Amino acid sequence: MTKSPTDENLREEFNRWADAGKGETMEHDHWPITKPALGLMQIEPDHNILDAGCGAGWLSRILAQRVPQGRVVGMDISDEMIHHAREASVSHENLVFVVGSVDEIPWEANFFTRVISVESSYYWPDPLKGLREIHRVLAEAGSAWILINYYRDNPYCHQWGERLAVPTKLLSAAEWETLFRDAGFMEVAHRLIPDPTPNPAVYTGRWFRDAKELAAFRAIGALLVYGNK
Ligand SMILES: C[S@@+](CC[C@H](N)C(=O)[O-])C[C@H]1O[C@@H](n2cnc3c(N)ncnc32)[C@H](O)[C@@H]1O
Repeated sequence: MTKSPTDENLREEFNRWADAGKGETMEHDHWPITKPALGLMQIEPDHNILDAGCGAGWLSRILAQRVPQGRVVGMDISDEMIHHAREASVSHENLVFVVGSVDEIPWEANFFTRVISVESSYYWPDPLKGLREIHRVLAEAGSAWILINYYRDNPYCHQWGERLAVPTKLLSAAEWETLFRDAGFMEVAHRLIPDPTPNPAVYTGRWFRDAKELAAFRAIGALLVYGNK
């Protein structure tokens, strides 16, 4: 893979996240919205699944257990995330991790029955190129599922862009759907997945102004965009 300066920035930033242990802690924040998404994906035991932007691999391991006769590939642009993912996954025989960018997925065409990507696609330098690549590696009748908390229709996340150290894309559900169609997907649709996590009385983090704003953000929920090949 030839690395562009943008890819290199992403690699360095998410390597820092990996070193700080964030790859593992994201499971706590992302599982409550990912679980309902998996319920919609109609995963069969013999499916081959790509987890694009897999981070430290917690979702890839859950998926590997759900496809005992299939195979899961976790891919991430951060080699440190992949290092963490591999170390935590040695007991999973049907799971491999590869370093790679969604711009140029290091896998053969028409292989995967499902592709999922959680909280990653708004970092992709060229989302259309990434979606075209996902379309390429999907088998006929396979489906792609992109889940994000940062999108234009939820006003409570807009301030994240300026707080993140790498450029992001704040697109609407309609814009993501258009990208899916332009990439060749059919039966494209979206839905919102409210986050059922109980809200704290007081919020002290840096992503929301206060607990009320966090609760409003979670009530609107994450954006799930999907389509078929
Ligand atoms: C917020 S983390 C989410 C990780 C994981 N999906 C999770 O839910 O814990 C975003 C991940 O996307 C990866 N990523 C960002 N841009 C990427 C790209 N162009 N290609 C592949 N991975 C990318 C990052 O390295 C990072 O691990």
